[in-house]
Amino acid sequence: MSETNATLKLGDKELTMPVLSGTVGPDVVDIRKLYGQAGVFTYDPGFTSTGSCSSAITYIDGEAGVLLHRGYPIDQLAEQSTFMEVAYLLLHGELPAKDALDNFSYTISRHTMVHEQLATFYRGFRRDAHPMAIMCGVVGALSSFYHDSTDITDPKQREIASHRLIAKMPTIAAMAHKYSIGQPFLYPDNSLSYTGNFLRMTFGVPAEEYIVSPVIERAMDRIFILHADHEQNASTSTVRLAGSSGANPFACMAAGIACLWGPAHGGANEAALNMLREIGDVKRIPEYIARAKDKDDPFRLMGFGHRVYKNFDPRAKVMKQTADEVLAELNISDPVLDVAKELEQIALNDPYFIEKKLYPNVDFYSGVILNAIGFPTEMFTALFALARTVGWVAQWNEMISDPEQKIGRPRQLYTGPTQRDYVPVGQR
Ligand code: CMC
Repeated sequence: MSETNATLKLGDKELTMPVLSGTVGPDVVDIRKLYGQAGVFTYDPGFTSTGSCSSAITYIDGEAGVLLHRGYPIDQLAEQSTFMEVAYLLLHGELPAKDALDNFSYTISRHTMVHEQLATFYRGFRRDAHPMAIMCGVVGALSSFYHDSTDITDPKQREIASHRLIAKMPTIAAMAHKYSIGQPFLYPDNSLSYTGNFLRMTFGVPAEEYIVSPVIERAMDRIFILHADHEQNASTSTVRLAGSSGANPFACMAAGIACLWGPAHGGANEAALNMLREIGDVKRIPEYIARAKDKDDPFRLMGFGHRVYKNFDPRAKVMKQTADEVLAELNISDPVLDVAKELEQIALNDPYFIEKKLYPNVDFYSGVILNAIGFPTEMFTALFALARTVGWVAQWNEMISDPEQKIGRPRQLYTGPTQRDYVPVGQR
């Protein structure tokens, strides 16, 4: 990182702070010594201007609609790579040679089973439990089963925990689905690909052979690639924050899952499809556009807008194309897709959305595809969590190995009462 300086005038004090440059993207003002030197904090709710770490994994240029993993554009990865290869890339920094990829895929496949006792955990959940509720609980509970990979100071244990998390997440998500529909769990079949195995565990039954459709397998793999990592988003920052205290990786991932669940983040794919269904007919679109623009109505167009992308979300482009391919392959004509396409066109030409730079995000079309494949809406965010685990794990590893890593501990602007004396209850 090269260094220049920034100067801050604060009353009669003048402070000099280094400006750090990354390989690409905006420079950052290094304010680490600000409080020590000037006795003030910075104020940035929602971290809109704050870099919380340095990272070499993912780069986003929101104005230009660019997303790079370790330098590779997301559209090239989605079109030419596989989820396993992208997982390797995110974890190790380089695309693997064939042998390295084979070894990595083999290692992951050897960790796909979960401890048999874990199956009994599911029975404790209500039959209609949301899969994300199950995922939060079960992933956190992994730390009670795999003690041999919770010492975060040991790089080998960190590697094993990372492999376990990536490998077991499809099994855990598929089991959550099976539990909710009252079907028996299926053990993994390691002769299948990562994604094929997940499809079989989700849609297969023990009584019949399940043939994985190559088109659906490819589409699903692409959806996983599109969700694999996204820089310092809310859930990834949550994983890093939880991990900064030294918490074990399973607990950190459970924290990430909890954060991802919210409708402003990963829960948007479920909310977007529900919204498209609620609109139901292209004739009703103007009514919903009007509601989205109405300041007194909390309604927002789900699957629209992004904190970072102020141009098209590059993932949404690939997702839209995948939606067309999957529906053609399955020979489905889904009125929801017609509503989505029309809504997109109307919103993109509306001054409100143009001025606020609101474009479809990754979640706008993913629900249409997942619905066509046969996933219930409640599973959508669980699929996001499955794929994002790779990013969380890569970011968590990067953080633990970073010599500058410290416990995450933001400061605040206090607006409560100043010191006052306790008043006994009878005198209040
Ligand atoms: N529909 C209508 N208006 C919107 C929308 C929307 N989807 N998104 C933002 N706006 C308006 C918002 O009302 C605000 O207007 P004003 O400046 O007049 O108050 C302005 O645009 C800026 O919005 P913001 O909430 O300050 O922006 P943010 O960066 O804090 O929020 C967001 C980003 C993604 C939370 C928000 O756009 C949103 O709620 N979108 C819908 C949920 C969604 O699709 N989330 C998935 C994000 S992509 C997947 C992921 O990363 O998890």
